[in-house]
Formats: sequence, C-alpha cells, structure tokens
Amino acid sequence: MSAGRSAAPARGQWAFHDGAFVPAAEVRLGPGLQALQYGTGVFEGIRAYAAGPDTSHLYRARDHFSRMISSAALLRIAVGPSADELVEITTELLRRNGHTGDAYVRPLAYKTALEPGVPFGVRLQGVSSSLTVVSLPMGSYVPKEGISCGVSSWRRIPDSSLPARAKITGAYANNALATDEATQAGYDDAVFLNQAGHVAEASTANVFLVRAGRVATPSHASDILEGITRDSVISLLRRDEGVEVEQRTVLRSELGTADEIFLTGTGCEIVPVTSMDGRPVGSGAPGPVTRRVMDAYERAVRARDPRTAEWLTPVHRTAVRL
Ligand SMILES: Cc1ncc(COP(=O)(O)O)c(C=O)c1O
Repeated sequence: MSAGRSAAPARGQWAFHDGAFVPAAEVRLGPGLQALQYGTGVFEGIRAYAAGPDTSHLYRARDHFSRMISSAALLRIAVGPSADELVEITTELLRRNGHTGDAYVRPLAYKTALEPGVPFGVRLQGVSSSLTVVSLPMGSYVPKEGISCGVSSWRRIPDSSLPARAKITGAYANNALATDEATQAGYDDAVFLNQAGHVAEASTANVFLVRAGRVATPSHASDILEGITRDSVISLLRRDEGVEVEQRTVLRSELGTADEIFLTGTGCEIVPVTSMDGRPVGSGAPGPVTRRVMDAYERAVRARDPRTAEWLTPVHRTAVRL
C-alpha cells in the first residue's frame, strides 16, 4: 500500500537541514553516509490537514516527534531539538512551503560519519548524526471503499532482532519485501505474522478486527509499531462507543473469521480490508464499526471535533519565496 510517489520534496521547496531552513534541492548527502550504508536512521510520517483556504493543522505532531526521539535514542542518535521545538520547526517549514491543501511531513534523523579517530566499522558510538525535515503536498491515497490483503510469507522482524516499535529506516527492507510479495500476488497490501505466527501488523499500518461486536488489535508485545493512529482509534472508540479495544495476541485464524478488518496509519488513515487471502471479510463491504471509526477520525483530523482539538497544531500558510 503506497502513495505511488516518493517522500521527496518538489523543486522550489524548503527543507530544514542541520539546524537551518535551506532550499531542499541543496541538501546533498554523499555515498559515505552511515545511514545509507547500514540503515541507521529513524523517521516519521506526519500529516497536515487543510482546514480552510489558508490554515491547516498538523495531526498529533508532538506524539510523532516524541516517538522519533525515542527511536533515535535506541540508535544513539542525538536529534537535537526537543519534540516541542520540532513541532515549531515543522510549522515554520509548512508555512514557508505554502502548501494549499493536505500535506505530509517526513522528518529523518540519521547517522552520518565516523568522528575523527574512530576506527572503521559498524558502530553506534563515535558516529555523528544529522536531522532533515521535508514536506510535500499529499492527500488521501488509499481507496476508502476497501482493499485486499494477503498474509505475507515474510515474518515481522522480532523485537529481539530489530524492534518494530522503533521506526528505523533499515528495518523497512522487511516491510518492502512483504509489500513486494503482496502486490506481485495481486493484493493491495500484506499482513505480517510475527515469529510466533500471530498477527503483527500490515506493511505500514496497524490491524484491527471486529468480531461479534468486540474489537481487537495486536498488543504492544506482538512486534508492532505502536501507531499513533492506532492510539487515536482506541481513544475514539472508548469515548464515542464505550468500546474498550482488546489489545492482545491475535491469531491468524481470526483474520479469516472476522466480521470486519481495518488498517490504521498516518499514510493510509483508516482503510477497510474487504478481502483477506482471497476471501471476503464479512459481507465484503466496509462494516458499520469501520465506517464509524472512519467518520470519527475524519472529524478529528479536519478539526471538526472540539474534543480532540489538543491533537492539532495550527499552521497559517504564507509561502516564503526561495
Ligand atoms: C510498520 C508500521 N506500522 C504501523 C504504522 C502506523 O503508525 P502511525 O499510525 O503512527 O502512522 C506505520 C506507519 O507509520 C508503520 O510504518
């Protein structure tokens, strides 16, 4: 499940790079980059939603940056700015880039080069790091009427090898293998099992199942990224419907017997899974719980739900010419 485009900014856009706003086209990273060679970077994907002709809102930006800082700590990357400062930097970046619609922000903190005197080798200590944030216009890209998924033959990387809860660039080769296999087989996306054979997550989204009115999602101990959209959905279901989502081990067989399945993620937002492993899920159309979650999420991100206003950071756009 992909946007069909890279997260690279268009020409004429600003980037925040190593402490300053610079033209994105001037950011040059060489072949010696440690993160390129060993996958030692961490990243986030954050959406901004238009809320009027000149205003948009970043959605849960502080939570994304807090997660990035904790992912970075695992790789001994010093991000520099705090989560609050990163929100301010991003607001300024969006303002400068003057996006007129929905936008996507891609912050990346990564290892760059061995510090002087540090011996050659794959290591985390004695390696400098950088921070780059880019933004680009991006609307919804996943069909809201439903997608097909297949269980991947690739298993999710276990926490004991490379923690899925940290958004580490190198780990996404695992996700790319699963997406490649799924799309070659004619599915829209893959669902990963973990090493124990239980449901983990989709290629870049968390999985929820509805069965006989109960809602479940794989627990934090199932080798998942602890999604911010997942957290939003758990809160919204609790608040709006009094439904407590079961966070537990989810068996593969539950995918085949669920009334509804949906995925959650910043990129895909809330997307119904209407076919799993070539079989219809429930009636084969988005189910009532999925539809209500989609509506509640849309209201939250579009600033139409005053009770979730704390999740939004306003951005007032005035493009700054390069
Ligand atoms: C592997 C993986 N799982 C889940 C998610 C969903 O996380 P979030 O809702 O924070 O975007 C993502 C997307 O970032 C992801 O890459």
